[in-house]
Amino acid sequence: MKICRTIEELTSTIEEIKQENKTIGLVPTMGALHEGHKSLFRKAREENDVFISSVFVNPIQFNNKEDFEKYPRDEQKDLNILEECGCDIAFVPTADEIYKQEPKEFHFGALEQVMEGKQRPGHFSGVANIVSRLFLWTKADRGYFGEKDYQQIAIIKEMIRQENINIEIVSCPIYRDEDGLATSSRNQRLSPEARKIAPKIHQILEKSYLQRNSLSLSQIKRFVEDEFEKIKDFELEYFLIVDDTTLQPIHTKNPGHGVVGCVAVWLDGVRLIDIQRYY
Ligand code: PAF
Repeated sequence: MKICRTIEELTSTIEEIKQENKTIGLVPTMGALHEGHKSLFRKAREENDVFISSVFVNPIQFNNKEDFEKYPRDEQKDLNILEECGCDIAFVPTADEIYKQEPKEFHFGALEQVMEGKQRPGHFSGVANIVSRLFLWTKADRGYFGEKDYQQIAIIKEMIRQENINIEIVSCPIYRDEDGLATSSRNQRLSPEARKIAPKIHQILEKSYLQRNSLSLSQIKRFVEDEFEKIKDFELEYFLIVDDTTLQPIHTKNPGHGVVGCVAVWLDGVRLIDIQRYY
């Protein structure tokens, strides 16, 4: 595995690869790699000649300084995992390297006025800055993202449309621990007691899914909110039922579109998100 720390090292390596007409799959990460990342790595490894991953805790996508500072970092462990997963190139830059050129402001209209975009001002502009740069430098044919960050995928698709970047966005199913908790780097910040409660997020969503034929979307919303209310350790930030493409809250399903429930909840000082597809 080749480790590149500068844009120049990365782009000159890419030039050589592209001369051989090889396909490139990119998995951008912020490190603290877990089983969820590994499922993306497997897919990128299988579907491309060359598999690249980046490890960069992107400061400009954190609107909460404490969250940025507490974000788990262990470069050597991450590099070992990447190597085990058959990664060809690991891009591990510093913030000075990435932002030699000042970040720009992205705007995504209604797509970013709900959920994560609403709760975390500037977050998606920060994500779009790093992801667009990675796409351009790596000249990737495919970019792999986990569906837990459902809104992020919609934003990235809109970003490549705005920037005219030719890349296929591959959306990958959530990887869950055996007890149903969606894997996330933030899970390691939960106390052992909170870790036992956390799978209830998925359990509540699944329970609501099973009632989708007898309840309206508004009733499902109320049901989920009530279930979270019953468990005192949870503090629900939002639960919204949205159109799977526009991400706008809906009360009835739009013909031809899917319906997704998106949740953000605080537990033990850690903010967790998850999703449930209803249709
Ligand atoms: O999903 C993430 O881990 C990050 O938002 C990403 C896509 C790596 C950009 O920093």
